[in-house]
Amino acid sequence: MEFITYEVEGAVGVITINRPKALNALNSQVLEEIDKTLDSVDLETVRCLILTGAGDKSFVAGADIGEMSTLTKAEGEAFGKKGNDVFRKLETFPIPVIAAINGFALGGGCEISMSCDIRICSENAVFGQPEVGLGITPGFGGTQRLPRIIGVGKAKEMIYGGRNIKADEAYRIGLVNNVYPLEELMPAAKKLASTIAANAPIAVRACKKAINEGLDVDMDAAIVVEEKLFGSCFETEDQKAGMGNFLEKDKEKKLKVVPFQNK
Ligand code: CAA
Repeated sequence: MEFITYEVEGAVGVITINRPKALNALNSQVLEEIDKTLDSVDLETVRCLILTGAGDKSFVAGADIGEMSTLTKAEGEAFGKKGNDVFRKLETFPIPVIAAINGFALGGGCEISMSCDIRICSENAVFGQPEVGLGITPGFGGTQRLPRIIGVGKAKEMIYGGRNIKADEAYRIGLVNNVYPLEELMPAAKKLASTIAANAPIAVRACKKAINEGLDVDMDAAIVVEEKLFGSCFETEDQKAGMGNFLEKDKEKKLKVVPFQNK
């Protein structure tokens, strides 16, 4: 890997996009390396991922404008599909992914963060979909995920206007869950990831699937999605131990609802 580093600390995996010369912009190689990194995650042991950018200035400054500048219509479509496929893999990845946004999150940078389950950012973060200023539309899911996250009107304002917003506004409109001083961002991301990783993994995965798949269908179908996933948790070690500990009123054991299987 040239542009991605992947480190595991306990049950938390940290993926870092590391292309400082281009403020971590996403070219084809970076996209391919993210894809391969996701394939390499050991889902038996890792229970939560963090995605961040290297350095203290940029999370991801977008898709690579140099690479896109000479594309034909067909190549442009194929490049969009390449990004969309990787981002969809991230979005549907079995375990939660936290985006720790440490600076610019523009175009494809904002878009990759929206493929993650939870976004937190540093005070210097800047978000935006500036594509119309480059003569293109957002192409890695921005036109679809931004309105779903912040609402249609606000998303249209951001996308049509190509106006960037700072961390405080991103927080106010619900694009990020929390804002931290830069040096506190990764500790906060790791704390959140560890909290998630300490919960019953089968249940956490089922919650992610239920929320994601339920949002794609109408309510009648959505509650069936939930019923199936709710049911799938029963008879697991996690469920037996988790409920058993509660019923035994054993506080010591209760604290041990941690090292359960990932199966
Ligand atoms: N693609 C390629 N290179 C990029 C880049 C990008 N998206 N963003 C920054 N870079 C490069 C710059 O070209 C520059 O390289 P050189 O040193 O070789 O000239 C280097 O990163 C540093 O950038 P700047 O000198 O511009 O740094 P700055 O601090 O003055 O400005 C910035 C920072 C505001 C983020 C500015 O770099 C910028 O506006 N970048 C482009 C942001 C953008 O438009 N992103 C959307 C891309 S389109 C897209 O993503 C489409 C899609 O949906 C799939």
